[in-house]
Amino acid sequence: MSKVIIWCLLIVSYTYVLVDCSEETWPVYPIYYSNRSKVAVPDSYCEGLFPFCPAGISHIPTFGSGDTIEVFAMKKPVWQFITGNFMGKLGIWHDAIGLRSKKTGLNFTVEWYELYELLNCTFPHIVDNRTSPLWCNQGAACFYRGIIDKLWLSNGSITKVTEMTSKQFFEWGKWLKLDNDTGPYYETWRVKEGTKREDQEWFVPFDCASFILRSFKAMKKVGAEFNQNVKLNYSFITLCSDEPIFLANEADIFGPNKHNDTLAKTLMDWYDNFQSHHKNIVKWFESILKIFDYFEIEHEFYLYYNKAYWFLPLKHPIIDITYEYVPLP
Ligand SMILES: *[C@@H]1O[C@H](CO)[C@@H](O)[C@H](O)[C@H]1NC(C)=O
Ligand SMILES: *[C@@H]1O[C@H](CO)[C@@H](O)[C@H](O)[C@H]1NC(C)=O
Ligand SMILES: *[C@@H]1O[C@H](CO)[C@@H](O)[C@H](O)[C@H]1NC(C)=O
Ligand SMILES: *[C@@H]1O[C@H](CO)[C@@H](O)[C@H](O)[C@H]1NC(C)=O
Ligand SMILES: *[C@@H]1O[C@H](CO)[C@@H](O)[C@H](O)[C@H]1NC(C)=O
Ligand SMILES: *[C@@H]1O[C@H](CO)[C@@H](O)[C@H](O)[C@H]1NC(C)=O
Ligand SMILES: *[C@@H]1O[C@H](CO)[C@@H](O)[C@H](O)[C@H]1NC(C)=O
Ligand SMILES: *[C@@H]1O[C@H](CO)[C@@H](O)[C@H](O)[C@H]1NC(C)=O
Repeated sequence: MSKVIIWCLLIVSYTYVLVDCSEETWPVYPIYYSNRSKVAVPDSYCEGLFPFCPAGISHIPTFGSGDTIEVFAMKKPVWQFITGNFMGKLGIWHDAIGLRSKKTGLNFTVEWYELYELLNCTFPHIVDNRTSPLWCNQGAACFYRGIIDKLWLSNGSITKVTEMTSKQFFEWGKWLKLDNDTGPYYETWRVKEGTKREDQEWFVPFDCASFILRSFKAMKKVGAEFNQNVKLNYSFITLCSDEPIFLANEADIFGPNKHNDTLAKTLMDWYDNFQSHHKNIVKWFESILKIFDYFEIEHEFYLYYNKAYWFLPLKHPIIDITYEYVPLP
């Protein structure tokens, strides 16, 4: 049964008001990230300031039977290593998972992050010879040997949350591979009607913290039991907006069968305002601050989510950065 019909039934049965639901389609909120079947191949134009996952290992290790793998939740302020405490002061935290074999003591780090830095996941490039915005918005999991204690402990934390048997770890590793192949795009924003916990959520983010939350669920699914005494908070970067307005799928706006040049031009012009992808990190932060000012004045935002474009009528306070408790599974 379609969602529209369900809505109509609800409306009719609860209010006894007869409404014509034949034309309007109702999105069901919040809108979740849609799973892809293929790995996204980034455009050759995309190139980050730093290489993605330089020390990554492509084969997830196996552990001997009888081994136990300890699992740690690891946190540190974002970008601290290049920006001093700027992002830390904003209160944005980066999350990762630590894994350690009880038998051998060998340890590993898993983190999920942008291939071409955060700003490239919010604003595409408008390139002269392209008729559509060029997105460098991939995200992926990076699995590498070792845990650099100092990196996490000096301003963050390493907290043990659960253990897995080697067999459970093997199963989880299969999930990790699948998850990495089916979720290739980074979505920075959580979009909500307001800043209160109970306010309607419009879009669910898909970032490093969502990866940790998915991973823990997947560990629970293969049989891991979490220590419920551990309480962890996660960063959310929230855009505040009235109900989003769906514009069209990317292919319908920019593809061969496009039918609305006005919309295509509107989007190209809007994103053209944000073409400040600087190699210089100080300039980069200046441009972020300029962007915040712009939103305060204009109250408009074009969101790209699940390969479609949406218009967001932004509202005060526009951007809200929070650190919220999410229970372990
Ligand atoms: C964004 O992408 C461009 C083009 O690939 C790249 O030059 C730049 O370093 C990336 N990062 C930032 C923060 O702009
Ligand atoms: C399009 O422009 C980009 C950046 O200016 C350049 O790297 C690329 O080679 C151009 N592609 C074509 C097909 O001209
Ligand atoms: C996830 O995918 C990226 C490519 O998109 C790859 O570089 C990385 O090694 C993969 N991670 C794992 C854990 O397989
Ligand atoms: C991970 O292994 C490294 C190298 O042996 C060690 O220095 C570090 O203390 C270990 N960290 C954890 C959290 O197990
Ligand atoms: C932790 O924070 C202090 C003070 O801001 C800074 O000097 C130090 O480099 C940070 N440590 C790491 C590992 O980033
Ligand atoms: C895609 O679907 C599978 C199976 O439901 C799930 O395990 C995986 O985590 C999903 N990927 C993402 C990126 O949500
Ligand atoms: C085309 O897009 C513009 C801008 O979003 C919109 O105002 C207009 O109604 C659209 N026209 C059609 C025919 O969909
Ligand atoms: C953790 O989250 C809770 C509930 O969301 C909040 O009340 C608390 O202040 C947060 N802790 C920190 C350190 O921000």
